Amino acid sequence: MATRKVARDWRQGRMEFAFDCAMPDQPARPAHPELLPPAQMPRRSKGGSQRGRIALWHSVAHIEFVAIDLALDMAGRFGAEMGRDFVSDFLWVAADEAMHFALLDRKLRTMGSYYGALPAHDGLWQAAHETRHDVAARLAIVPMMLEARGLDVTPAMTDRVRALGDENGARILERILDDEIRHVRFGTKHFGELCRTNDESPQEIWQILVRKHFHGALKPPFNDSARAAAGLSRDFRAGIV
Ligand SMILES: [Fe+2]
Ligand SMILES: [Fe+2]
Repeated sequence: MATRKVARDWRQGRMEFAFDCAMPDQPARPAHPELLPPAQMPRRSKGGSQRGRIALWHSVAHIEFVAIDLALDMAGRFGAEMGRDFVSDFLWVAADEAMHFALLDRKLRTMGSYYGALPAHDGLWQAAHETRHDVAARLAIVPMMLEARGLDVTPAMTDRVRALGDENGARILERILDDEIRHVRFGTKHFGELCRTNDESPQEIWQILVRKHFHGALKPPFNDSARAAAGLSRDFRAGIV
């Protein structure tokens, strides 16, 4: 609710374009969920048991919760240097992520659970922390890599959820996928503008930054239609995959 209020206040001209306080290195966290290193997370079964389904939705809710912080940090940390359009775009993203989180928390409650009931993994903020001094690196890793990976994996997950008879869950995932295309597109747009200002190739700079800051593997499947709609053409990943 607080995030959606910030986005609304900005849109309606009730917030100044002023950045006179430093962004925190770590965002505030609720007392729950307990955050565990990825290796210590309980294994999640792929089956359709109620426990497995709750664990799945809980992990998606956690991703969306951290995504709120990622979008707000983008706007607050880099807004002064990047300008008003950038702030507008990433506060819109933040409001979307808050809506996604709300949908998922409500979903968990219909299943008799809630966000915080299970542990969650603490790795999601690391990419943000590592790129806190460089907006190009942040854009390359957060929207253009991590959120783009979301575009890749969501269709198969939607199919699995629908096959289990959960039409409501499948619709939530479709709505999220639609919004995430826009989030990746904002990343690609501002990254492209930065590169063009410096007379550099977005594809080449992206590859350099990914090699430096991304520690996972970029592997198929790729959702090339969603990536193309987000401005992320296949030539970006040439030499990375
Ligand atoms: Fe999201
Ligand atoms: Fe997103």
